[in-house]
Amino acid sequence: LPLALLGPLTLFTRLRGNEHNWVTLLAPSSVLEGDSVVLKCQAKWTGGIKTMSYHKDGRQLLSSNKVSTFSIQSAAFNDSGQYHCAISGKLLWNWETTSKAVKLKVQELFPPPVLTASSSQPTEGTPVTLTCETWLPPEKSGTELQFCFFREGQGLGPGWSKSPELHIPTIWSQDSGSYWCEAQTVTPRVKKQSLKSQIHVQRVPVANVSLETQPPGGQVIEGEKLVLLCSVSEGTGNITFSWHRETTETSLGNKTQRSLSAELEILAVKDSDAGKYYCRADNGYQPVLSEVNITVRIPVSRPALTIRVSGAPAMVGDVVELHCEVQRGTHPILYQFYQKDVILGNSSASFGGGASFNLSLTSEHSENYSCEADNGLRAQRSEVVTLNVT
Ligand SMILES: *[C@@H]1O[C@H](CO)[C@@H](O)[C@H](O)[C@H]1NC(C)=O
Ligand SMILES: *[C@@H]1O[C@H](CO)[C@@H](O)[C@H](O)[C@H]1NC(C)=O
Ligand SMILES: *[C@@H]1O[C@H](CO)[C@@H](O)[C@H](O)[C@H]1NC(C)=O
Ligand SMILES: *[C@@H]1O[C@H](CO)[C@@H](O)[C@H](O)[C@H]1NC(C)=O
Ligand SMILES: *[C@@H]1O[C@H](CO)[C@@H](O)[C@H](O)[C@H]1NC(C)=O
Ligand SMILES: *[C@@H]1O[C@H](CO)[C@@H](O)[C@H](O)[C@H]1NC(C)=O
Ligand SMILES: *[C@@H]1O[C@H](CO)[C@@H](O)[C@H](O)[C@H]1NC(C)=O
Repeated sequence: LPLALLGPLTLFTRLRGNEHNWVTLLAPSSVLEGDSVVLKCQAKWTGGIKTMSYHKDGRQLLSSNKVSTFSIQSAAFNDSGQYHCAISGKLLWNWETTSKAVKLKVQELFPPPVLTASSSQPTEGTPVTLTCETWLPPEKSGTELQFCFFREGQGLGPGWSKSPELHIPTIWSQDSGSYWCEAQTVTPRVKKQSLKSQIHVQRVPVANVSLETQPPGGQVIEGEKLVLLCSVSEGTGNITFSWHRETTETSLGNKTQRSLSAELEILAVKDSDAGKYYCRADNGYQPVLSEVNITVRIPVSRPALTIRVSGAPAMVGDVVELHCEVQRGTHPILYQFYQKDVILGNSSASFGGGASFNLSLTSEHSENYSCEADNGLRAQRSEVVTLNVT
């Protein structure tokens, strides 16, 4: 070899052999997630440096043509690894040298939160509290944590909140599903998600339906209001109540609500509304039924009084029949026959056709007569009929 090359070759060899002494990577060995990290490549001799590069696990991260540092804004788990740096330059000839590898370990700031529910199989209509729990290391205990809850990918409640609890005052079966929570610190921003938890809301089937009426007993006066109150002793969620007439199988209406009872009103009951009714309560399980008999009571109409005389004119000694009859009215009906204002007699009729009262005529019987019909709902007096006894 020409002697002129011998000197530089020796230097090259020295550089190769002691390269780690020439360049050092300065880096912390352990940091917490979210910390900012600066890696600095330090060379004993910077004259003639052409490039400075940073490498992680053998892969180049950055290469610069001047002296530089490599920064990680917010360290994450996957920033852990073996780092080294390299510099190259030209001093008579091109040379390159690399640092020793430095192991960087990023430690977790807090573990992924754990979501717990006060009950994983709550009953519909009851409250449920969700808790999102995680722990900061003692030296970071002053760091503020925020929490957020999700169901089937949708955020619940107020969004990010300082409270690790979410209180659901009443839970319904449609709230069943997969829940999770997230916890984060704001500075540095580190966010973690819990595993998913299934919450299965239990529905209580409807039971013990009853159909009551207002007025009670199913006895309603024609023209007045009838309320059919359908109720169950238990059952959760939306309950569909429906009312039916048994004879015609027609539906009178239905209501779906989150309550144990519902009512149907018939504003003015007609004679033809009498009969058997039932109500049905259904919340998705076996529906339950209850029935009631409705009787429509009709107040008496004004009675008509007729005096049946065997021969005209009516003579002393004849027997006349006073007949009183209503066109409408629920039986039994009490008929009372009046001579002027004195009651001559009473007759109770338990079916149609009216009532009669026989009178053997004397001269005293030339009078004004009337009758009254009463079925307990209303009393009505007939028109006055005058009898002339000859
Ligand atoms: C239903 O009613 C019966 C009798 O009234 C009662 O013994 C039973 O406990 C009731 N069931 C429920 C679930 O309330
Ligand atoms: C409930 O009533 C509505 C009308 O008000 C009717 O369209 C519907 O079919 C009814 N549903 C049932 C289950 O009877
Ligand atoms: C329950 O009924 C209410 C109306 O009363 C309705 O808004 C709601 O969507 C219903 N829920 C279900 C699950 O059917
Ligand atoms: C309804 O009336 C019928 C007779 O008309 C009777 O057999 C039945 O027991 C009654 N039902 C109720 C629930 O009162
Ligand atoms: C008719 O009935 C009324 C009351 O119901 C009673 O006061 C009266 O004495 C009765 N009269 C006769 C004649 O039975
Ligand atoms: C009244 O007399 C007629 C015969 O004149 C008789 O058919 C009827 O039964 C009598 N009615 C009463 C209530 O006594
Ligand atoms: C019957 O009533 C009419 C009027 O309502 C009256 O003019 C007449 O005097 C009465 N007759 C008797 C016998 O009281």
